[in-house]
Amino acid sequence: MIIAVDGPAASGKGTIARALARHYHLPHLDTGLLYRAVAATVLREELDPEREADAVASCGFDDLLLADEYLRTDEVGKVASIVSAHPLVRAALLQRQKRFALQPGGAILDGRDIGTVIAPDADAKLFIKATPTIRAQRRHAELKKAGLSVSIDKVLADIRARDERDSKRAAAPLVAAPDAAVLDTSFLSIDSAVQKAIQLVERLR
Ligand code: C5P
Repeated sequence: MIIAVDGPAASGKGTIARALARHYHLPHLDTGLLYRAVAATVLREELDPEREADAVASCGFDDLLLADEYLRTDEVGKVASIVSAHPLVRAALLQRQKRFALQPGGAILDGRDIGTVIAPDADAKLFIKATPTIRAQRRHAELKKAGLSVSIDKVLADIRARDERDSKRAAAPLVAAPDAAVLDTSFLSIDSAVQKAIQLVERLR
C-alpha cells in the first residue's frame, strides 16, 4: 500500500504521516527533508538559492545530513521553499522519491506533490490543511518550546509567504490531487486528527 500525504507547512501532515507509518508498519519518507538538505547545502556553500544552477549543484548531499536537526529550522525551511521551485532541483530528487514509494511492501511519503507527481497511483491520498492563523499558532508554540522568541505576527507572515511560494510556482505547485481526501486539522487534537486520517485511509484503500 502506498499512502500519499500532502499539505502546507504546520498543517499536521508530518505528525499524521508518522502516526500512519506506525499504524500500518510502513516505511516513511518526509520529502521536505530532501529539499531542506539542498537548502542547507546552498547555505553552507554560500550559494544563491534563487539561481537554479547553484541549487542543482547542491542536490548531491550526503544522506547523513538528513538526520541533522538544523534542517528543521525556519531559516532552512524558507530557503527550501526557494530551491524547491526550480524544475531541475525537483527533477534531481524525483527518482529517489519514486523508488522509495515503489519499494515492495509499500510506503508512506509526505510533502507537497506526492499525490500529484511522485505517486499519482497511490492507494490512499490525504491532503491535510489548517487555517494560516492556527498553523502560525502551532509553529509559534513549537518555537517557544525550543526557547526561541519570535512574534506570532512574524511567524504568520512567514507561513503566508511560504504558502504563496509553494502554491504559485509553476513546477509541482502545492495543490490537492483530485482524488485526495481533504482533512482539516484546524480544530482537531493530534489524536483525533490521526484517528480521522486512519478512517480516511481505510475508506480509500
Ligand atoms: O514540509 P517542509 O516544511 O519540510 O518542506 C520544506 C519546503 O520544501 C516546502 O516549503 C516546499 O517548498 C518544499 N517541498 C516541496 N515538495 C515536497 C516537500 C517539500 O516543494 N514534496
